[in-house]
Order: sequence, then structure tokens, then C-alpha cells
Amino acid sequence: MRGVILAGGAGTRLRPLTEITNKHLLPVYDKPMILYPLNTLLKAGITDILIVTGKESAGDFMKLLGSGHDLGCRLTYRLQDESGGIAQALSLAEDFAGSSKFAVILGDNIIDEDVGGAIRAFDAGKDEAVVFLKAVPDANRFGVAEVSGEKIVSIIEKPAKPKSNYAVIGLYLYSPSVFSVIRSLKPSARGEYEITDVNNHYVKADKLGFHLLKGDWTDAGTFESLYRASTIARKSKQV
Ligand code: G1P
Repeated sequence: MRGVILAGGAGTRLRPLTEITNKHLLPVYDKPMILYPLNTLLKAGITDILIVTGKESAGDFMKLLGSGHDLGCRLTYRLQDESGGIAQALSLAEDFAGSSKFAVILGDNIIDEDVGGAIRAFDAGKDEAVVFLKAVPDANRFGVAEVSGEKIVSIIEKPAKPKSNYAVIGLYLYSPSVFSVIRSLKPSARGEYEITDVNNHYVKADKLGFHLLKGDWTDAGTFESLYRASTIARKSKQV
């Protein structure tokens, strides 16, 4: 399977740090942030990887990661002209994905669990999409899944009153049907093409699987979560 890392966006919640560089190049403990989602894919056996980012910092990503040769992977870069949300950024991966299933990870997600088993199960299974859920104390900051038995019945983006404590984390598995789903989307109230709208399409079609994450997880888009990302990375290194 191939992998896509979404590393664009303005990183507004991390200003002034993001005035001078891309969020995904900021330090998380002892490494630039992007190396964590990259390692998540590599550990899962995914070595053909597309990085989507904006033109301001694209050269810095190349300086850090190069062709991927030294990391044991093959990297492709694609420029994102606008910041129109996660689904809009993902639409740029259509040619790269071709006719295969693939994994997408947000460049600010730090996952301390080997997700290779779940990814291989998706590749061999009949779900058209899979999301990963993590029980968190502050679900209102995320996409939140309402689960009934073995199924997700709805996902609500940043609900004021979450119906569960299951955050939908920034790791998604899709079949190529996702690109026609994205084409059918309308922008949300905040003017973005939302990944939650994509996932709800698969909920309605009864084609969305999920995997409950047991290991530590955080995103790193705010000062508090960036700090937490460093503590998770440090702890994981010391085990
Ligand atoms: C995005 C998604 C949200 C998800 C989160 C995970 O939120 O919209 O559903 O739970 O990533 O990191 P954002 O980082 O854009 O606030």
C-alpha cells in the first residue's frame, strides 16, 4: 500500500512559531514533527509515500528528507496552492494513489502504536474506508465518532456536546473511491472541505470500519498538544 502525509496549512494556532516555518517542521522532542507520521507509515511497511505541502517550506522538507533513500523509502512531493481543508489537500493525491487502497496521515499526528496490522487487514478486507479512534478527555476539539456495537453511526466535527469520548484521529485508510466522494463535497461553515464529511459518506454507505487505538496519541496543532507530543515522544524513546 502507498501512504500520503498531509503537511500543509497555515498553522495559525501556533503563531508566532509558524511565521517562520511550516508547523510540521517544528521540533517534537528530538526530531522535526514530520518524522513521526513518516515513521508510523514506515513501521507499518509503507515505503512509497507522497508529501503534500505548501510552496513556502517545500524546499525545507526536501532538505530534511531528500528522496527518502536514507530513510528506506521513496518520497514524492506535491505542492498545495491553497489551504482549503484536509479533504482538498487529499484530492491532490489522486494520481499518486492510482487504483490502490492507501493510507493518509496528518503531518501533526504522533501515534505510539504499530498500526501495521490494521492497515494490512484493511488491504485484505472489504471496508472502503477505515478510521482510527482514541478515547480522549477533550473530544470537543476533534471529529467525534458515535459508536453503536461494531459500527460508527455518525461523526461530528468539533461538537459542543460530544456524544462519546472517541476522537477520530488523523490517520485514515481509503480506497480510490474517496476521490469521487471529495468531488461531491461542499465547503463547511468554516469554508473548508472537511475530512469528516468524507468519512460520513462512508458511514451512510455502511462501508466505514474502525480501529480503536490503545497506544498514546496526540495531534500537535496547539501549544498544549505540541508540548504533549514531546512528552509522548520522549517517553516512547525511553521505554
Ligand atoms: C482535524 C480533523 C479532525 C481530527 C483531527 C485529528 O482537525 O478535522 O476531525 O479529529 O484533525 O488531528 P484540525 O486539526 O483541522 O482541527
